[in-house]
Amino acid sequence: MHEAVAMNPWAALAYLVAGVCFILALRGLSSPASSRRGNRLGMAGMALAVGTTLVTHSFASLPEILVAMAIGAAIGIVTARRIKMTDMPQLVAAFHSLVGLAAVLVAVAAFANPGAFGILDAATGHIHQVSRIEMGLGIAIGAITFSGSVIAFLKLNGNMSGKPILLPARHIINLGTLAAILLLIAYFVTDDRTAVFVAITALSFAIGFLLIVPIGGADMPVVVSMLNSYSGWAAAAMGFTLHNSAMIITGALVGSSGAILSYIMCKAMNRSFVSVIAGGFGTESGPAGGAAAIDRPWKRGSAEDAAFLMQQAEQVIIVPGYGMAVAQAQHALREMGDLLKKHGVRVKYAIHPVAGRMPGHMNVLLAEANVPYDDVYELEDINGEFAQTDVAFVIGANDVTNPAAKTDKSSPIYGMPVLEVWKAKTVLFIKRSMGGVGYAGVDNEVFYMDNTMMLLADAKKMVEEIVKAMG
Ligand code: TAP
Repeated sequence: MHEAVAMNPWAALAYLVAGVCFILALRGLSSPASSRRGNRLGMAGMALAVGTTLVTHSFASLPEILVAMAIGAAIGIVTARRIKMTDMPQLVAAFHSLVGLAAVLVAVAAFANPGAFGILDAATGHIHQVSRIEMGLGIAIGAITFSGSVIAFLKLNGNMSGKPILLPARHIINLGTLAAILLLIAYFVTDDRTAVFVAITALSFAIGFLLIVPIGGADMPVVVSMLNSYSGWAAAAMGFTLHNSAMIITGALVGSSGAILSYIMCKAMNRSFVSVIAGGFGTESGPAGGAAAIDRPWKRGSAEDAAFLMQQAEQVIIVPGYGMAVAQAQHALREMGDLLKKHGVRVKYAIHPVAGRMPGHMNVLLAEANVPYDDVYELEDINGEFAQTDVAFVIGANDVTNPAAKTDKSSPIYGMPVLEVWKAKTVLFIKRSMGGVGYAGVDNEVFYMDNTMMLLADAKKMVEEIVKAMG
């Protein structure tokens, strides 16, 4: 650390405590039962970090900072309250773009006024060489995060087609641009003139755009989590420039947890991380694999049939998916589960790791409806039980129950682990129409099986009718 910015030991201690709060927050967020406590710890850590920074630094204008914070907090609170659960991925993408932009702005401020940031080498009158590396990396990762997140937002929000946009020779262009950025950062260490700084920034904005444009909507959630990881590394790099240990710890936590989450999602979707980054997924025209949806016999059931079958059952496993989120059927579903339990039926909820459109999507919705955590099971823990279960109740899930993932090598979901609902004595399948497909765009053999009864309706309406029929 440079002597000019030796940290107040109390500030260092406070930042350390804030870092511990963030680690405990992540720990808490790993289970729905402790997630509220985790969130509170994270908020406390952030309040401590911001408070410490305000108290231990002299600012040109404290009121300006407080006003800016109040405006930001107001926008954050209103947005978080208004946002629909299904729109969460684009909100996260929008927030990441701000983290990237913040890293870029901090780097610009530090470059414009290195003395104030304690990174000026008094002997040479230039920025310390090691600070130039941190700054170069921080601005590059920050700018990539910004432009990449903006594209991810536009694609997820429907302002831009979710289809991959494939430029000719894109791999060569991308690799060339990345190499140029690294070479420029290396050159920046020897020569800190403004033109080099601007060139690094401009190329990094461009590569963020180029990297994300070819990635199809199908892979966007992985991209969002990857950009989350980048935003963490950008913050960590800027933490080194600012000699702020809280930023380094937080950045490293966000960076590594985002990377782990991207890996988990890729694995659950049976996609390789490299193929996601390389882009182009989802270019095949029309659904691949699966059987044709037309002219095949299938059975239709009513709410009364479903109520009767479930009330006779010993065990019912409920499999929620994206459709439950769209219909906001979780409260009615909980009510149905409670009624079944009153009838002496064992009720369990089976959660696939990528059911819905974001990690933990189903867990959040079920927790919101006060479904007991003990009734909620992960795929590995429940898959063996379908064979001994009377009714599998699939509500708005499709891909995560598709046997083609096990049997059809040409299917885009081949290799993905799935919930083996078809092994249950009866499958009740709620969706709105026979033609509607899931995320991967493929038909599902389960619809046409002898033991399946299709309940075609909006998920919430159907569950409400079933509840009525049970009454
Ligand atoms: P999907 O396969 O997307 O199927 C959703 C089903 O819900 C469809 O069959 C749809 O059929 C039905 N539906 C939609 N709105 C409905 C409503 N209002 N009422 C009743 N049904 C409704 O969902 P899934 O099984 O949850 O699978 C998730 C998919 O998303 C996987 O392919 C996964 O790889 C992908 N994905 C997930 C994530 C994460 S992290 N969760 C990230 C990226 C991609 P109708 O249109 O006929 O109603």
